[in-house]
Amino acid sequence: MEQELNTLQTLAKAELNTVSSSAQLEEFRIKFLGRKGEFSSIMKNLGKVPKEDKPRLGQLANSVKKELESLFHTKKQSLNTSSAASDDSSVIDLSLPGRKPETGKLHPVTQIMNEVCAIFESLGFSVAEGPDVEHDHYNFEALNIPAHHPARDMHDTFYISDSILLRTHTSPMQARIMETQQPPLRVIAPGKVYRCDSDITHTPMFHQVEGFLVDKNVSFADLKGVLTIFTQKMFDKKLELRFRPSFFPFTEPSAEVDIACVICNGKGCRVCKHTGWLEILGSGMIDPEVFKKVGYDPEVYSGFAFGLGIERIAMLKYGIDDIRLYYENDLRFLSQF
Ligand code: PHE
Repeated sequence: MEQELNTLQTLAKAELNTVSSSAQLEEFRIKFLGRKGEFSSIMKNLGKVPKEDKPRLGQLANSVKKELESLFHTKKQSLNTSSAASDDSSVIDLSLPGRKPETGKLHPVTQIMNEVCAIFESLGFSVAEGPDVEHDHYNFEALNIPAHHPARDMHDTFYISDSILLRTHTSPMQARIMETQQPPLRVIAPGKVYRCDSDITHTPMFHQVEGFLVDKNVSFADLKGVLTIFTQKMFDKKLELRFRPSFFPFTEPSAEVDIACVICNGKGCRVCKHTGWLEILGSGMIDPEVFKKVGYDPEVYSGFAFGLGIERIAMLKYGIDDIRLYYENDLRFLSQF
């Protein structure tokens, strides 16, 4: 029996070395270690050996079995790891859902800007763009805001030098266009503007669309009509407008325009601070002083101008209460639009 156990051990080890798949390993287990396997059949004879040999042979049988079992487990593990490795590199799972490539989109502010421009273009306005870095002359002087005029305080200007600055509004485009073109004029000027200001409703850079119309016999009624059509198209409903007397050095008379709150329909809510109204733009009839500076005769021509904040419109349209969200570049925010 001792002989048989030793032979079994040598044979089994040799055979285990040739095993290269889990199926072969299972055959090996059945053949040597299974209930009807070779080890079991040798052990059946343990009862027949002389009494004094039993303890020694019993121990030998145990150690042979333990060794074969541990070799079996080591082999099993090495087969598992190598098959996992080969899965990774050679098997393609065709049933996996594909990965969608991310597509780019226009920034919500750009979208609103395009929408605003499209509405005014449909009313016959043409689009003009001007420089962000502007002369003091166009940003202020030509708009009837001389040096030391208190209205300059409203603008929180970023100066580049004494006479060069980042434009604080798009109104300089009124002067730039009128200087080079003759009436009749119907122009909008979209673009970036800059003010040294930052809180939940202000960012140092924001966007405006300037609009102006110059011709003979232009009246405040024309301004009202154009802005009424614009707001109704922009917010997709018949919104009431309110013209509140205001002051701008380059328009006379001037008005700030409110729309009935788009959130509560004028009933009063948090967004409109319970007034029922939302301010959306500044406007007025172009001041005769501005015409004189560009060489238009104020006795012949009249016109209106308005300037609206794009971020403000986007906030109202989408119900967003913090303007800074637009510029944090968080894709989770931006991809909603
Ligand atoms: N430029 C003004 C502003 O930025 C808005 C405005 C434009 C007012 C045109 C009147 C006419 O506040």
